[in-house]
Amino acid sequence: MALAPKDILAALAPFRTAAGIEPLKAGYVQDIAVEPHANGMRVNIHVDDVWRGAATTDDDRLALGNFVKERFPEVADVRVIPRSRTQADAARKIAKPGQAPPRTPDGVKMIAVISGKGGVGKSTVSINLAQALASVGFHTAILDCDIYGFSIPDLLGLSDPVKTRDRQFVPPRVQGIDVMSMKFFVGHNAPVMWRGPMLGKAIRQMMEDTLWNEPEYMVLDLPPGTGDIAMDVHEYFPKAGAVLVTTPDANAARVAERAGQMARSMERRLLGVVENMSYMHCPECGYQWFPLGRGGAEAVSRSLDIPLLAKIPWVVSGESGVSGLVPDSHPARDIYHKLATDIDRMELLATGPLATHS
Ligand SMILES: Nc1ncnc2c1ncn2[C@@H]1O[C@H](COP(=O)(O)OP(=O)(O)O)[C@@H](O)[C@H]1O
Ligand SMILES: [Mg+2]
Repeated sequence: MALAPKDILAALAPFRTAAGIEPLKAGYVQDIAVEPHANGMRVNIHVDDVWRGAATTDDDRLALGNFVKERFPEVADVRVIPRSRTQADAARKIAKPGQAPPRTPDGVKMIAVISGKGGVGKSTVSINLAQALASVGFHTAILDCDIYGFSIPDLLGLSDPVKTRDRQFVPPRVQGIDVMSMKFFVGHNAPVMWRGPMLGKAIRQMMEDTLWNEPEYMVLDLPPGTGDIAMDVHEYFPKAGAVLVTTPDANAARVAERAGQMARSMERRLLGVVENMSYMHCPECGYQWFPLGRGGAEAVSRSLDIPLLAKIPWVVSGESGVSGLVPDSHPARDIYHKLATDIDRMELLATGPLATHS
């Protein structure tokens, strides 16, 4: 089988320099290309020119190259080429005019929350996962990528138009989460009717022109479904790991499976499935019942071979305040907390300007 850049990328994960720097995890690997060579294959790896605040050394780059050679006998030559981020951005724009993914804050890990259909609680899971990450102590942000069906601000009780500073947007902060959404620009409940190219521009602008507070995690609430819009938005965030949300019924699970397959076909890493509205729970007697049936998440987990990350109970009105955030005292808070720490242990890659091509 031909050697693909992503094989090399995967193999680089355990590499560390003598000083303990892990270039892949730190986001220093920009791109990897494989080309034929007289005695096998040649691999070109562009890396950031600065690692942990200092220029990369010949020794470190040589060690990285040798690490690749040892693992792939068919590789005859490895070149590890230092390059500034500005040069990398420029190179990428030339390679794919107009299609470079939006620039993300450095070092952020991105979690895309996806679902097959609307109404399963994707946005609700997004805000509560973000809140749990923030409560663990991570700088956390949410980008509402559901341009046409934005609901994050409503779920968080935010309604003011966006403020600007130095021609950048100041994201409102709720419970330690920086929030950005189309809602802040269109006001009231006006429907957004932009077509494809505008959609890309809106997401790019929100991502690039917001004064993010050095987020360590960014939760992306993606539009539901497997259609063009969801596909486009997926493409903007090549490094995000995806959390698939479903309800327990077979119908939602089938659609979730398709969304998961689509995400996988775009080389999106699937972190696992979350079942929302799994059960109702009587706080008095502890009795549980299952208004939407059972087994949806198990079915998705089996067919896509991904972990079942969490089952979230119904949080019935009166238990929650005005917002969609689960109140402190509710048992679902612990479930979200465990979801956040489990995802953190999965060691998502931090964004650097990585784009692989062969
Ligand atoms: N666990 C839950 N318990 C009770 N209501 C929920 C739960 N999750 C979501 N909801 C409600 O269901 C509706 C749809 O949720 P939402 O997060 O907007 O779904 P989506 O983003 O998938 O369209 C909202 O009214 C939300 O408040
Ligand atoms: Mg939604």
